[in-house]
Amino acid sequence: MKRTGEAPGKVILFGEHAVVYGAAAVALPLSKHVKVTLRDGSGQVDVRLPRRATIPDAHRAAAPVELLRRALGAAFDALDVRVDLGVPPMAGFGSSAALAVATLRALGTPKSKPKLLARAIDVESVAHGRPSGIDPAASIWGAPIRFQRTDRIRVKPLRIGAPVYVVVATAGVHGGTAPVVARIGETRRAAPQLIGSAMDTLGAAADAGVKGLRTGDLELVGRAMKIAQGILDGFGLVGLEVRAAVQTAEAAGALGAKMSGAGGTGGALVAVCATPTAARRVVRALKDRGVDGWVESYAALPTERSAR
Ligand code: MEV
Repeated sequence: MKRTGEAPGKVILFGEHAVVYGAAAVALPLSKHVKVTLRDGSGQVDVRLPRRATIPDAHRAAAPVELLRRALGAAFDALDVRVDLGVPPMAGFGSSAALAVATLRALGTPKSKPKLLARAIDVESVAHGRPSGIDPAASIWGAPIRFQRTDRIRVKPLRIGAPVYVVVATAGVHGGTAPVVARIGETRRAAPQLIGSAMDTLGAAADAGVKGLRTGDLELVGRAMKIAQGILDGFGLVGLEVRAAVQTAEAAGALGAKMSGAGGTGGALVAVCATPTAARRVVRALKDRGVDGWVESYAALPTERSAR
């Protein structure tokens, strides 16, 4: 018996952290995937990392084995698992969620997206205690999404009005999602109004971003990213290298740039560009300061009217 499942990583454009408290958020799937292969066996796990990648501190992130145990349940001991982790781990690209989704897909159940999401959130909670579900949702839908979790989860695929080129990069060392989410929770308890209104603004930035993406107004997307970046920096989530890289990206022609994902001492950043030339220029400028990045592109979809 051999079964495989695959799922993409994600990058958050808007709404990280605020999404945990009910604000809207936007996530994009990556072209980088996690592939899981299950064979009859005896609980052996073989994890292949992307070239040059390492898992900085296995204690701070859920080791893939723990995620696999949770996803596979009793079947774990009767299977050998090979994981091709094409998504860089511990960087803010949703590798844990993609691993959870790919494993559940290899198992073949559940089939419906909402049920798969509920199972993947349960598996991902091994990685951090209070996941909003945005990471597995982006991985399952495999398309740009607006995500919101209040009393229920709402996932809406986004129709993009103009092609958008997103530079994705990492700078500094990511310390793991759980401690950062816990710290924000503590600050929220100490200053509920201050943090609440900042979270509301992050949600409003996400909705402005959704509007800009839908209408092809990428300048609006960029402006909303700058406001979100200012607030996230105020939360202490933007590491020094990420802050410098965001400035470099904007100086090189990005319409807007910000940290992405959990943040903390370092981690992912995103920069939005209107043309592939501008995006390549941003990648080169980042490379010059030792920051590795690549370009993801998202095509404009015909509007419902013009598709008829
Ligand atoms: C992590 O990719 C995004 C956070 O908002 C946590 C979550 O939503 O589960 C920091």
